[in-house]
Amino acid sequence: MSSPEFTQSTALLKGKTALVTGASRGFGRAIAAALWSHGASVIGVARNGEQLESLRLELGEGFLGVVGNVCDAEVASTIIHQYCPEILVLNAGATPRALPLQDQTWASFSQNWNVDTQHVFNWTKEALRLPLAPGSVVIALSSGAAIMGSPLSGGYAGAKATIRFISQYAAGESKREDLAIRFVALLPQITSATDLGAAGSAAYAEREGVDLKTFLSRFEPLLTPKVVGEVVATLCEIDEEDREIALAYMLSGAGVREIP
Ligand SMILES: NC(=O)c1ccc[n+]([C@@H]2O[C@H](COP(=O)([O-])OP(=O)(O)OC[C@H]3O[C@@H](n4cnc5c(N)ncnc54)[C@H](OP(=O)(O)O)[C@@H]3O)[C@@H](O)[C@H]2O)c1
Repeated sequence: MSSPEFTQSTALLKGKTALVTGASRGFGRAIAAALWSHGASVIGVARNGEQLESLRLELGEGFLGVVGNVCDAEVASTIIHQYCPEILVLNAGATPRALPLQDQTWASFSQNWNVDTQHVFNWTKEALRLPLAPGSVVIALSSGAAIMGSPLSGGYAGAKATIRFISQYAAGESKREDLAIRFVALLPQITSATDLGAAGSAAYAEREGVDLKTFLSRFEPLLTPKVVGEVVATLCEIDEEDREIALAYMLSGAGVREIP
């Protein structure tokens, strides 16, 4: 049975299969719920099976949780071949260790390269090699940090900037090979509304010697997972013939804007 919070309000994505990495919590969970509520059949991949199961119980029919480590190239290849999604959202990401540069180790500094970037690389490559069907869309979660930097988060900003490049390179390959697959990178602004964002916000507030509320006041209105989910669903609904879709978008609580 579906919870009253999640109802299939519109059906513009009806008949589409969507796959969301990191769907167990945070943005990914909200993206999965939004795509589902717009009519898509959604497959959510993450390591935490209990959280995926709780989402399945909330949404009901049309959602399937698959437990897996999305960094694994084999997992990417197997799942993409099995489900051939028309919508692929590469959202999974590790929470960076919040330490200044001199207190990082190479292992902590490179964590987001090994998780976020490696997974986007593997899944994007599979999307091109399969290839996904014409008209498919692949949305990768980069970060505002890719532009602003993130001095307390090790290699996070660089890893996220590379995700934007991978998405852009893939868009070029799609065009060159006439695959008609759209590749888009999203750069959300920091928000305390998820585990990852809450940890980062608390660390940056402490570093500045201000309380969390003061630190976050400069980002108001704060971005919510619900807004991220709706933006993703809307981008998936834009028909290529209707409107040119941009390569990258900045996302904040105030809305979405194309990055030229
Ligand atoms: N929140 C922000 O302020 C913010 C701002 C800019 C960009 N972003 C980006 O947005 C994305 C989502 O962030 P979030 O804030 O929603 O983070 P979150 O609440 O910590 O969720 C992260 C998700 O990634 C999954 N994940 C991590 N490693 C995985 C792995 N090896 N295999 C499978 N799944 C894995 C987690 O699932 P399991 O643990 O169950 O595997 C979880 O579902 C990330 O890429 C993040 O960098 C976030």
